[in-house]
Amino acid sequence: MRLVLVSNRLPNPAEQSGNEGGLLTAVRSALPDEPFLWIGWNGRTSDEDPSTPTRREHHGVSYVSFPLRHNDIERYYAGYANRVLWPLFHQSPARLCYRKEDEEGYLRVNEIFAHLTAPLLHPGDVLWVHDYHLIPLAKALRALGVRHPIGFFLHIPFPPHGALRVLPGHRRLLAGFLDYDLVGFQTADDEEAFRDAVRHEFAGGPAPPRTGVFPASIDPAECTRAAARGRRGTHGRRLLQSLTGRRLILGVDRLDYSKGLPERLRAYERLLETQPRWHRSIVFFQIAPLSRSEIPEYADLRAELDGIVGRILGRFADYDWLPIRYMTRGFRRDTVLGFLSLARVGLVTPLRDGMNLVAKEHVAAQPEEDPGVLVLSEFAGAAHELTGALVVNPYDPEGVAEALDRALAMPLEERRERHASNLRAIVSADARAWARAFLAELGGVPRQGSPPNPA
Ligand code: G6P
Repeated sequence: MRLVLVSNRLPNPAEQSGNEGGLLTAVRSALPDEPFLWIGWNGRTSDEDPSTPTRREHHGVSYVSFPLRHNDIERYYAGYANRVLWPLFHQSPARLCYRKEDEEGYLRVNEIFAHLTAPLLHPGDVLWVHDYHLIPLAKALRALGVRHPIGFFLHIPFPPHGALRVLPGHRRLLAGFLDYDLVGFQTADDEEAFRDAVRHEFAGGPAPPRTGVFPASIDPAECTRAAARGRRGTHGRRLLQSLTGRRLILGVDRLDYSKGLPERLRAYERLLETQPRWHRSIVFFQIAPLSRSEIPEYADLRAELDGIVGRILGRFADYDWLPIRYMTRGFRRDTVLGFLSLARVGLVTPLRDGMNLVAKEHVAAQPEEDPGVLVLSEFAGAAHELTGALVVNPYDPEGVAEALDRALAMPLEERRERHASNLRAIVSADARAWARAFLAELGGVPRQGSPPNPA
């Protein structure tokens, strides 16, 4: 059996950045030694014909990538995927901006993906499609005669049916899932919401696809090694030196409104207001690499964050102590892990998040003998597994400030216990287990009819 993976974005095989998002992190760690074919957009726009993809081999993986036309990217990626599905699935309907032509572009690009994928398939292949950009891909592939098993994994949350109904054409979107043999979710809540939506929309209609819960994860041993490298590296040493013994609170997130960054900064501001005893002895460092900057909601968020950071500095900074450090550039993955290993508190407070692998990386990066504490939003999928974290409601600045205070003051023994329990959860359900479970469930059962001849 050969595995064929399809995702919107492909990784840069040569260099791993620390902000490429959960999908790439999970897939890279899940299939480290397996040969497979990975098909996706190369991240560039061009007016070249996308029917001429580039193939590149790296450590046994074949990457087939192609550019997309500027107009297609505007409609499919910036428009429908990221201004409709992203806010809708993260339950942020006020940010939803639906346009018919974006939906059409989304369907058109899914057809382009299907036309590029179908000729590459061999009999016996199993397809694994990733994330919200490609929901209609199975339907487009089936229309081309593809009968292989096709699984889909949703890396982001699935909204309750009531929230889904906000979307014009939500039934069309939902119908796209029905052509998969297996649809995987991060949490039982997501799976239940999906099944409920299908029950409501297609009562008495076609059989729903098989579904399952497969929490995405990391390779903890690889994270620990990368963290050790990052800590020893120039950036790791410089960060440690710059702390001069102060306790580090660290946040690492793409600059995205689902991550709850303004709320997090306000909670930190609240801590500084209510607990002056921490002044001068802590530093909050937020790394927020720019993401999807061409989308207005992301540009607005950036301006908002600039304002809040400026206000906190103006209110609390001293000429020889800055309570907050804020950067919108990214770092290499091992550097980020090295930074996480230095953090007494990992602050992960999304308003809504499919899983959040930074939470798991913070745990894996910690020195076991003197580990830091994870403060984690109850609305991240990871909160279901990392029960040793201090779980907070990100909308409650007082509650988050109290958790920060508690984390900063937590005795070593309690930190060790909580960390050990989190690490056990990750080790027992790592990235390989995630992929193995999904692929075992997907199996190799072909649909009726025979696969098309490979080109
Ligand atoms: C999330 C999504 C991924 C996406 C990543 C980065 O993790 O689930 O599918 O790749 O964000 O976003 P971008 O738009 O840069 O691909």
